[in-house]
Amino acid sequence: MHNLIDQLQAHGHLSADGYRQLLTTGDASAVALLHERARAVSQATWGRGIFVRGLIELSNVCRNDCYYCGIRRSNHDVARYTLSADEVLQCCHQGEAAGFRTFVLQGGEWDESRDQWIADLVTAIRQRWPHCAITLSLGERRTRDSYALWRECGANRYLLRHETHNASHYATLHPADMSRDHRLQCLAWLKELGYQTGTGMMIGSPGQTVDHLVEDIEYIAEVRPEMIGLGPFIPHPDTPLGHHRAGSVDLTLRLYSIFRLMFPQALIPSTTALATLTPSGRLDGILAGANVVMPNLSPTQRREQYAIYAGKASSGAEAAEGIAALERQLATIGYHIDWGRGDHKQFR
Ligand code: 5AD
Repeated sequence: MHNLIDQLQAHGHLSADGYRQLLTTGDASAVALLHERARAVSQATWGRGIFVRGLIELSNVCRNDCYYCGIRRSNHDVARYTLSADEVLQCCHQGEAAGFRTFVLQGGEWDESRDQWIADLVTAIRQRWPHCAITLSLGERRTRDSYALWRECGANRYLLRHETHNASHYATLHPADMSRDHRLQCLAWLKELGYQTGTGMMIGSPGQTVDHLVEDIEYIAEVRPEMIGLGPFIPHPDTPLGHHRAGSVDLTLRLYSIFRLMFPQALIPSTTALATLTPSGRLDGILAGANVVMPNLSPTQRREQYAIYAGKASSGAEAAEGIAALERQLATIGYHIDWGRGDHKQFR
């Protein structure tokens, strides 16, 4: 097992069987070594600074009906909201004053007829805060033109998890009007357009096997995304998959470390889903090789309406107003906030 970890660190890849062994081994000392190595690589590349991104949950209106997601179209128990452009700018203003240099606009997937509204918003943010990065996380678009428009207005990065690379597994998580192929097409467009592109998957989603994860690793090895987002699946009671078990924290952390060893330069957030499942999740993620956290800048009264899964954390160190608490948490493991824009090294 130690040999496999050496190999992964030296070459940045393993055989499918090698990944399978790292994901399934019961050898606790091997898992500890995996995390240790990933942490060392992360520190050698990035130091002990953790980048922060201000997350703005723009809207919980969504045209999709993903079987796992709490804000899916068919969940009629959700009070739908959309922030006004002024509210978003106000979030950015507060975030910028607090030191944030990246704004992440995340939301449900809207109809293309509203692309221009987003374009105008991106233009306004770009004008007012030229030194800040704008990340969009607004789902799939039917054509490349939508992404091209937003890119021209000044968006720098885009997050779109592929969720699972396996087409038949994808089909068990999503309704028939969505396809794995179109998701991958969108990711290819984003890369072509020069976005710093993030993808990733839920860990332990219903029906996911170790072989599916190996397929995900191999896909990510091929596309080389600048950002890799991974969080455990967490059931939401008002969804078709709400009765399934949550994903494994241990498996999520192993994947953080595997990706860190594969991509020393990747931006890997320690995700809110991980912090929601276990109180130490945020720090455990960092100790497994993550180098980004995404505190919530959304208006506090909206946060509980953006419930993609049950019990989603949005206060304390998860929240922008809890930045001092986050600093203190990081300090307990010898880390600190890096207030830089945190672009991927190829984009500086
Ligand atoms: N559990 C964990 N993560 C979820 N997401 C959506 N629903 C859930 C859930 N029930 C994740 C998806 C999506 C991201 C914004 O949130 O991976 O890409």
